[in-house]
Amino acid sequence: MDADDHRDDHRDDHRDDHWAGRFDHRPVMEEEIVDVFRSVPAGVILDATLGGGGHSEALLDSRPDVQVLGIDRDPAALRAAAERLDRFADRATSHRCRFDALDSAMQAAAVDRLSGALFDLGVSSPQLDQAERGFSYRHDGPLDMRMDTDAPWSAADVVNGYAESDLTRVIRTYGDERFATRIARAIVAARPIESTVRLAQVVTGAIPAAARRTGGHPAKRTFQAIRIEVNSELDALPQAIDHAIDALVPGGRIAVLSYHSGEDRIVKDRLREATGACDCPVGLPCVCGAVQTVRIVRGVPKRPSIDEQRENRRASSAILRVAERIEPGDDDRERR
Ligand SMILES: C[S@@+](CC[C@H](N)C(=O)[O-])C[C@H]1O[C@@H](n2cnc3c(N)ncnc32)[C@H](O)[C@@H]1O
Repeated sequence: MDADDHRDDHRDDHRDDHWAGRFDHRPVMEEEIVDVFRSVPAGVILDATLGGGGHSEALLDSRPDVQVLGIDRDPAALRAAAERLDRFADRATSHRCRFDALDSAMQAAAVDRLSGALFDLGVSSPQLDQAERGFSYRHDGPLDMRMDTDAPWSAADVVNGYAESDLTRVIRTYGDERFATRIARAIVAARPIESTVRLAQVVTGAIPAAARRTGGHPAKRTFQAIRIEVNSELDALPQAIDHAIDALVPGGRIAVLSYHSGEDRIVKDRLREATGACDCPVGLPCVCGAVQTVRIVRGVPKRPSIDEQRENRRASSAILRVAERIEPGDDDRERR
């Protein structure tokens, strides 16, 4: 998701004031997520990105025989989720940590195995909306962008502290921004940059006028890139997915909603690896030791419905991938 799409949501809804200061986040592909977990064995579902607890609430409502263990690193999200899930107090617990530390969350909650794991990646609507969180290029705020408000460094450290070459790499890699070099040069020349709107002005000024008119707000990709860097969003992901798969019981499922190509590439790669896919030469026996632990669940819509995309612009870039843990030895890979 990105702040621009989200802002457009608001414009459509005419609800800017109404949303201010509230944890109001519409869960993406909620019905599809409920369907994914409808058939998993009773037990614990890990919500690795609890946010305001929207998906968790739907899961707890639909499956009276499951408990939810929610993880988030944002204390405001955990507070909001606790309030929302209050009526499920006996079936919902939460833990503040990064999702690559899900082992410690499971240990703290005395959970051994999982019936399901859900990752709804990226930032929540309230994180984007509240100007003081510093994620928005439209609402002026400090250069912050930390999901974990106690984390030691913020967007200001990246924007005002990184070498030009590192800024270029971040903006190009995490923002898919073709003008990364020009933007990084402009940022360095404009230092110190103190606020989000000032950063947006500098970025916009670095992009050729013709290119500014396409693809949403010109600062959108740079803000996404800096946010990903500040929160090490992609670093945490591969390990978290692997751990969640390891912890699933047979028949348990993992579902991941990603919102940009960098995330989806990682998700696809980790799930592919868990299917035991190997790159050994065709016609020869597999010698790479690949082991199949999941099969990909097909028939689940990969994208939100057109209606959902229309109603919730933030959902429009979502991609859902789902895999199911198999019984040990239940390997259905085609033999070469
Ligand atoms: C898109 S929101 C989730 C919204 C939630 N599904 C709902 O329905 O309310 C993503 C949440 O995941 C959290 N988050 C993102 N990356 C994380 C990580 N590596 N570790 C822990 N929490 C993370 C963010 O703080 C945010 O609250």
